[in-house]
Amino acid sequence: MPNLAVLGLQWGDEGKGKIVDILAERSDAVVRFQGGNNAGHTIVVNSKKTILHLIPSGILYENSVCIIGNGVVVNPQTLIEEIETLRKSGIKVSPANLKISSNAHIIMPYHIRIDLLRESSKIGTTGRGIGPAYEDKIGRRGIRMCEFINPSTFKQRLEEFLEEKNMLIKFYGGEEFSIDIILSEYLKYSQFLKDYVFDTHQIINQYISDKKNILFEGAQGILLDIDHGTYPFVTSSNTCSGNIYSGSGIGSGKIKKIIGIVKAYTTRVGNGAFPTELEDSTGEFLRTQGGEFGSTTGRPRRCGWIDLVALKYAIDINGVDDIALTKIDVLSGLDEIKICTAYKLGNEILPYFTNSNEILKKVTPVYQSVKGWGVAFPKDIKDYSQLPNETKIFIKKIEESLKTKVSIVSTGPSRDETIFKENIWE
Ligand code: GDP
Ligand code: IMO
Ligand code: MG
Repeated sequence: MPNLAVLGLQWGDEGKGKIVDILAERSDAVVRFQGGNNAGHTIVVNSKKTILHLIPSGILYENSVCIIGNGVVVNPQTLIEEIETLRKSGIKVSPANLKISSNAHIIMPYHIRIDLLRESSKIGTTGRGIGPAYEDKIGRRGIRMCEFINPSTFKQRLEEFLEEKNMLIKFYGGEEFSIDIILSEYLKYSQFLKDYVFDTHQIINQYISDKKNILFEGAQGILLDIDHGTYPFVTSSNTCSGNIYSGSGIGSGKIKKIIGIVKAYTTRVGNGAFPTELEDSTGEFLRTQGGEFGSTTGRPRRCGWIDLVALKYAIDINGVDDIALTKIDVLSGLDEIKICTAYKLGNEILPYFTNSNEILKKVTPVYQSVKGWGVAFPKDIKDYSQLPNETKIFIKKIEESLKTKVSIVSTGPSRDETIFKENIWE
């Protein structure tokens, strides 16, 4: 199997976890390269649900080494909890199959507090400290894994930064931190995690030289990308394919295929423009049928029709080779399915997507309709040819408009509810 990457092409929660889990069966390593525990990736195996926030979605396979790359921001407490939860359900997790980059930055408790205090800014963040942690990374005030696991360096770094953080917390009206309290808790975490820390870029490049199969797992979605998303209603990292290279430490040309995950409709958690949003009974239908409640915060996800204008942009920005279309089963029962094919601004049709939140708020989606395929989605479909005709027409429309083939169709949350329409491994 060549090296593959799985990226979300909408506003997150497209079903990346499920697809990564499926592809991980044939992978030697799965690498996360950005984001943090703002992500919530769900895997369902034999009706058992596992939600992963930081650990790559390959962890359920013993053969897969899971790597948390340098581009990720790591909350040590969440990571340890995730390791322990997995162990309790019988999954082996050790430094042999989980490796964290020595250059990954730590999410400190003050990052979380600042994130929560600032939420008056109405981004609708997950409150996990992601933005403040990336700010400190770029501002060269961050603490990296390699510093965190060395108690004297960790203490020194904290002494250097805490006063400034406390000033900020005070400014926002929050409670300040004492260095001793942070140290007493975080030194325990660092001792737990120290054996998991490696120069992961070296390991990944060695795997590449050894022709091992690597799967890169994106978090969030392209419309939440710090540069290309609907700024400022975005996350604080680059979610696009360009960041696979810097977030894991590999050179360009090492990835054979970028697989874009597309939900058969659109969802968004948090605030910001959403042209095809449905604030009516159809939106409610999608939310209920699709179980659209955040895997991380439990918030109801905003729901709307599939948006080919935004998807065309996402494909361009990421250089997507193949699409995995998920949650097609959720549309069952609708008489008519709408597909947004253009935006109108006043009387004009916009020639291309814009990531300007202000303009997106004003556009009117132009829809084409296709016929639905009846109430219950047929179970146990193994082959594309067994899909209802109306479903195939819907998929064809997506492929033709986006000039990209749909290679995987997901018809339910479980591993066995997956159709390989094309051979993505060749
Ligand atoms: P991610 O963040 O992209 O990994 O997606 P999430 O896990 O946050 O949200 C996707 C949700 O949809 C999870 O509950 C999955 O179990 C579920 N899911 C994934 N694929 C399908 C599918 O094809 N059909 C249905 N009904 N659910 C799916
Ligand atoms: P996965 O990987 C959906 C959204 C938040 C908020 C914005 C900024 O499961 O697809 P942040 O906490 O990152 O500063 O919040 O980004 N967001 C997500 N929405 N899925 C995610 O991850 C998300 N991660 C962040 O809701 O609007
Ligand atoms: Mg999610």
